[in-house]
Amino acid sequence: MSAKKLIAANWKMNGSRALVEAVSQQLTSINATVDVLICPPATLLAHFPVSEHFSLGAQNISEHQQGAYTGELSAGLLLEAGASFVLLGHSERRQYYAETDALVCAKLQQAVAAGLTPVLCIGETLAERQQENTQQVIAKQLAAVYASHPELLVKSVIAYEPVWAIGTGESATPEQAQATHAFIRAQLALYDSAAAAKVRILYGGSVNAANCQALFAQADIDGALVGGASLKPDEFMQICQSAK
Ligand code: G3P
Repeated sequence: MSAKKLIAANWKMNGSRALVEAVSQQLTSINATVDVLICPPATLLAHFPVSEHFSLGAQNISEHQQGAYTGELSAGLLLEAGASFVLLGHSERRQYYAETDALVCAKLQQAVAAGLTPVLCIGETLAERQQENTQQVIAKQLAAVYASHPELLVKSVIAYEPVWAIGTGESATPEQAQATHAFIRAQLALYDSAAAAKVRILYGGSVNAANCQALFAQADIDGALVGGASLKPDEFMQICQSAK
């Protein structure tokens, strides 16, 4: 369990310069007992003011360092644009852009090499949960990165996002989330037990102002990765303030 919680906003393909201003303004009064991360679309990164109150992250990077890859953005470019974190392996990338575990691992290595902190997103689909395969799926997603590169764990953040809870309004219960977070930490301990004890494991999937407190009370929940509710500055602020 990490000392300080991390509340991360994933704006996905949403937002505007007006939202950048509203959120930046709102976060000037955030309490320093919580770390806040905003992951907007890459085009908005440079519109944020440099702030001691929050960090910025990208939502994806290329697995290549540079070169003839039309339309792609490298870790280095995003770093220069103001990002210090990057979300990797989000279920929407795995599902709609066919990102495999091997590709996610390659991207994670690029991120760390460039100096970005990767937020590795993992989680099971509804069918996988119903077939009682949650642990198997998660263990495979973690092993794909950390079995071969255990040294990357100390530089990582993990986000557990059950696919069935994303954008559905149906969050995992605090007990369900805690059980899976504890399993994730135990799996990670196979690769680096000291890093596993400290790594921040965020919960994502329909987190809102009403359910966040009960989630944050769980021993192995070190913060949240918030989608829809992060687009509402007042509600996002409430979630951040609940994470002490
Ligand atoms: O990455 C965050 C996300 O997938 C959860 O989205 O809208 O359910 O909070 P949401």
